[in-house]
Amino acid sequence: MEYKFTMRSEMDTIEFAQNLESEKFPNMVICLNGELGSGKTLFTKGFANALGVDETVTSPTFTIIKEYAGELPLYHMDVYRLDGNVDGVGIEDYYHKGGVVIIEWANTIKDILPEHRLDIKFKIAGENSRILIVTPHGAEYEELCEAVF
Ligand SMILES: Nc1ncnc2c1ncn2[C@@H]1O[C@H](COP(=O)(O)OP(=O)(O)OP(=O)(O)O)[C@@H](O)[C@H]1O
Ligand SMILES: [Mg+2]
Repeated sequence: MEYKFTMRSEMDTIEFAQNLESEKFPNMVICLNGELGSGKTLFTKGFANALGVDETVTSPTFTIIKEYAGELPLYHMDVYRLDGNVDGVGIEDYYHKGGVVIIEWANTIKDILPEHRLDIKFKIAGENSRILIVTPHGAEYEELCEAVF
């Protein structure tokens, strides 16, 4: 099962993230993929804002993992620079810390992604338009999609 949406503005992407946030649960894992500048970080900012994170969310490209306090802890990762070298980083530890995990460039660490997760693929369709393809993996994510979409 997959769901496809067109975002026609930044605000659409932010609202989309807010909608998903409304169905959050502890240990939720959201995997973001798609080319540079397609909106992965903007989505995360929208999600964080809805989660009540006060701090400004910035791209964790150099730090790999950033932690924010919200209604649930938010663990924001950008694994692009790891280039698949995940040994010793401890990414899997974050899957069961009780927070929400959002991973940019998740496909570069395919082997260590949890089986149950929400995949979102971003595609640039124009200056301000983006196509989002959402694929739930696991019953809890299928139910989440049914609730939101
Ligand atoms: N509908 C839209 N949704 C998301 N971003 C949009 C949209 N329209 C325009 N943009 C712009 O596209 C850019 C998206 O940048 P963002 O940093 O979120 O991309 P990214 O996928 O995280 O890139 P990277 O792979 O470098 O981390 C921003 O400049 C944003 O303003
Ligand atoms: Mg980014």
